[in-house]
Amino acid sequence: MKNITRTFLGFTALVLSLQCFSDSNDTNLDLIHARQSNMELRSYFLGPLAAMAKGKLPYDAEMAAKLSNSLQLLNGLDMGRAWAPGTGNDKYEGETTALPKIWDTYPEIGKYGKKYETAVDALASTAGNSLNELRASLGDVGKACKACHDDFTEKQ
Ligand code: HEC
Repeated sequence: MKNITRTFLGFTALVLSLQCFSDSNDTNLDLIHARQSNMELRSYFLGPLAAMAKGKLPYDAEMAAKLSNSLQLLNGLDMGRAWAPGTGNDKYEGETTALPKIWDTYPEIGKYGKKYETAVDALASTAGNSLNELRASLGDVGKACKACHDDFTEKQ
């Protein structure tokens, strides 16, 4: 009995703590925040690489390899559910910059995603070799980020 009570209390505590993670009762907002967090992490890893390429940060081979590998790891996450139909800026104005076009033209955005992944794979296999190789492969990554934002996100 004691065990059951303890289990029950543990479960209640878990439910309560999980509720703290949720911003509201609208779970679509959690999805939007999850995909935005994934995007923020892309910037987090890309930022120092771009600074190295521009000479604003000294080139560090080990750091460049780690950053680009981390960027590549993000592509292994299954984020599909976070892009649920009906979560564009027409319904969630102010919460997301994702255009309804993402879903209206689906699977068009997949091509942009594939291009991005190919560019990140190339970056991950070269960024740690030399500053020149980092510079050579980083451009395509930046272009792939920009192309998708230009076509599928609200202009800021
Ligand atoms: C295949 C499309 C695609 C690619 C590639 C892409 N993004 Fe995004 N990004 C989006 C979309 C769509 C949004 C809008 C998400 C939202 O607000 O729900 C977004 C939003 C963002 C945001 C804003 C997040 C926030 O908190 O509102 C940042 C930062 C960002 N992207 C960075 C990047 C970087 C850096 C790259 C490349 C390393 C990249 N993205 C590649 C589609 C893409």
